[in-house]
Amino acid sequence: MPDPTQPVLDFEAAWRSAREVDGWLTEEQARVLHQAAGAVAPGRVVEIGSHLGRSTIVLAASGAAVAAVDPFPDDWRYGRPDTEQRFRRHLAAAGLSDRVELHVATSRAVREQWDAPVRMVYVDGKHDVWSCLDDLRWSRFLREGDTVLVHDAFSSLGVTLAVLRDTLLGRRHRYVGRTGSLARFVVGTPSASDRVRVLRELPWFARNLVFKVLLRLHARPLARLLGHTGSADPY
Ligand SMILES: C[S@@+](CC[C@H](N)C(=O)[O-])C[C@H]1O[C@@H](n2cnc3c(N)ncnc32)[C@H](O)[C@@H]1O
Repeated sequence: MPDPTQPVLDFEAAWRSAREVDGWLTEEQARVLHQAAGAVAPGRVVEIGSHLGRSTIVLAASGAAVAAVDPFPDDWRYGRPDTEQRFRRHLAAAGLSDRVELHVATSRAVREQWDAPVRMVYVDGKHDVWSCLDDLRWSRFLREGDTVLVHDAFSSLGVTLAVLRDTLLGRRHRYVGRTGSLARFVVGTPSASDRVRVLRELPWFARNLVFKVLLRLHARPLARLLGHTGSADPY
């Protein structure tokens, strides 16, 4: 009988599948997701913002049950009419379809109907400040000490403002640290030093903003000179 606390795929196998899927997640960030989800397996992880399944594959490979939430909007940024079908194909190719329950709706609509236990939340949905703050409300299903991971926490103005507001003014999340711009929080009352630690990430956020501006200005050689390779925004 398979051990439900063991990963379905070890990290290397999971990453071999996930890296073939377009999306925004580095290998180091994927490793953090796999480890954090594995720590609560076979408990449930809620993923807000799944796109083509890059992060979903890594989460599901850990052995956790994954509730993937994405309305798959047909918008300028993420939209293509076949995004949901491509998402399902990628999960099937990784052999993980039966580990993922897909909710094709907004995070808020799903949350308002939600009544099942959750052990970890991964936030990578709509990147404006209000949506991100709303997504963080999923943490009310978690217990003290459980993990909340937020992608683009220090590389997207909306997400960064939401994280600053939540951690500086809120009393629910303690900042642990980051892998690139993937921030890790645990549910618990933040101390003054937890709050200061978030503020200390602001130079890293400023650096990422500079690279984003340079890329918008088509100044890739200058961005490269300053340390950012590739054409994608830093994350
Ligand atoms: C940055 S992408 C997610 C990337 C994905 N996690 C990956 O690893 O590639 C953001 C996703 O959030 C989804 N999204 C937009 N509005 C949303 C909402 N209100 N609730 C949940 N997801 C939303 C978009 O459709 C898009 O697929």
